[in-house]
Amino acid sequence: MTDPRLTPTLALPLPGARLRPWRFPDAAALAHHANDRAIWQNLRDTFPYPYTAQDAEFFLCLVADSQRDLHLAIEVDGEAVGSIGVHFKSDVRRRSGEIGYWLSRKHWGKGVATAAVQEVSRYVLASFDVCRLYAVVFATNLASGRVLEKTGYELEARMRRSVVKDGQMLDSLLYALVEEK
Ligand SMILES: CC(C)(COP(=O)(O)OP(=O)(O)OC[C@H]1O[C@@H](n2cnc3c(N)ncnc32)[C@H](O)[C@@H]1OP(=O)(O)O)[C@@H](O)C(=O)NCCC(=O)NCCS
Repeated sequence: MTDPRLTPTLALPLPGARLRPWRFPDAAALAHHANDRAIWQNLRDTFPYPYTAQDAEFFLCLVADSQRDLHLAIEVDGEAVGSIGVHFKSDVRRRSGEIGYWLSRKHWGKGVATAAVQEVSRYVLASFDVCRLYAVVFATNLASGRVLEKTGYELEARMRRSVVKDGQMLDSLLYALVEEK
């Protein structure tokens, strides 16, 4: 059986949009679209800001070497403009995966992230031995919470003062999509 991490393209129900594997020639587009403080503000500090060409190359090497996790480019009109991935957990949490994503500000508000989260969640639950997908969202990130709600994720917990971001203590919200399988 083909490894489902080496996924082919996944169609999205939006004109010109699809999910596909990352490629080394995406480096310039990645560095351009990822270099945004408003994106960094909502992600872990391992996501750099400023986001340089070297950071893009480092990420693409990491993805190429990754045997375990799923990493896909969000493509709109032929250009990689965002990223979506699932980190598969191990040991007693081996049937769980953590979903993460970001999208270029240029394409916000058009339903792209909602379509991407919907499709990746469907794909992972259908193709892997995973019954739980979850995301941890800073409580200030209303757009991401809304994306998760629209795609069927349920709010399970508010983790109080669990995040230090940009010098601020924030609550974070745990959302999960759970299947009986
Ligand atoms: C979060 C993010 C991926 C959303 O992408 P997007 O393609 O614009 O999302 P969608 O268009 O699919 O849906 C956004 C929803 O949030 C809503 N929304 C946006 N800003 C909002 C705000 N400030 N308050 C409340 N709702 C908001 C939109 O109205 C929409 O909901 P609706 O369809 O019910 O109207 C994008 O803003 C992003 O990349 N942010 C930075 C990185 C990030 O936060 N990643 C997720 C970390 S958990």
